[in-house]
Amino acid sequence: MRKKIIVGNWKMNMTKTLAKEFLYGIKEKINVENTDVAFCVPFTLIDTVREVLKDSDIKVGAQNVHFEKSGAYTGEISLDMLNELGIDYCIVGHSERRQYFNELDSTVNLKVINMLNNSNIIPIICVGEKLEQRQNNTMYDIVKGQVGKAFENISGEMASRCILAYEPIWAIGTGVTATSEEAEDMCKYIRQVIANIYGKEVADILRVQYGGSANSKNAGELLNMLNIDGLLVGGASLKEEFIDMVN
Ligand code: PGA
Repeated sequence: MRKKIIVGNWKMNMTKTLAKEFLYGIKEKINVENTDVAFCVPFTLIDTVREVLKDSDIKVGAQNVHFEKSGAYTGEISLDMLNELGIDYCIVGHSERRQYFNELDSTVNLKVINMLNNSNIIPIICVGEKLEQRQNNTMYDIVKGQVGKAFENISGEMASRCILAYEPIWAIGTGVTATSEEAEDMCKYIRQVIANIYGKEVADILRVQYGGSANSKNAGELLNMLNIDGLLVGGASLKEEFIDMVN
């Protein structure tokens, strides 16, 4: 049985003041007994959010990391910097980073390798197709390519520590959620891709989330699907409805 994991992705939202106000209001209401829960927050909020959640089982994560140890990379954040903050998760290869910041499958792979080799931070690796790729039915090849490249030069044991997030780009922030059947179909396919690379044992362990306009209305149905092990939640993780999604 894979434990469900629901992660809020705050993206470029909140401030220290707003984060404190929001989290003090909701943290006691979130039932973390049977579910892993985390918020992936902007770098500047990590310390504050960790402090607010220190007596809670809700974990904290980042939204990106650089793949080099250190150096002349103005504006970037290294893994050592994140390790020092004591976070548990880091999103890698979010479609917004691929779209606006030229994140490539090859850099996603380097980031995952760096994280698995040099930290206990769990990578949440995002994959997903564009609308036209779904319309012309190339979505399976696209997602298979993204998954395959993300895991290049990574052992099965290492891979099983990762989380994959299936986030169809046409569903992110659009209010258009994939139907639970569409989401289940692709999450099941992703598990098959993992099985083809690493075997059934790793595929049975590795958790696959769905993300894209998940909210308190559709969460239950999505989470009831056999191959959907959790949700990556953008907009709704900034609101009180996140409590209902977990509970
Ligand atoms: P959304 O974002 O829930 O606002 O669609 C999801 C994500 O980008 O992780």
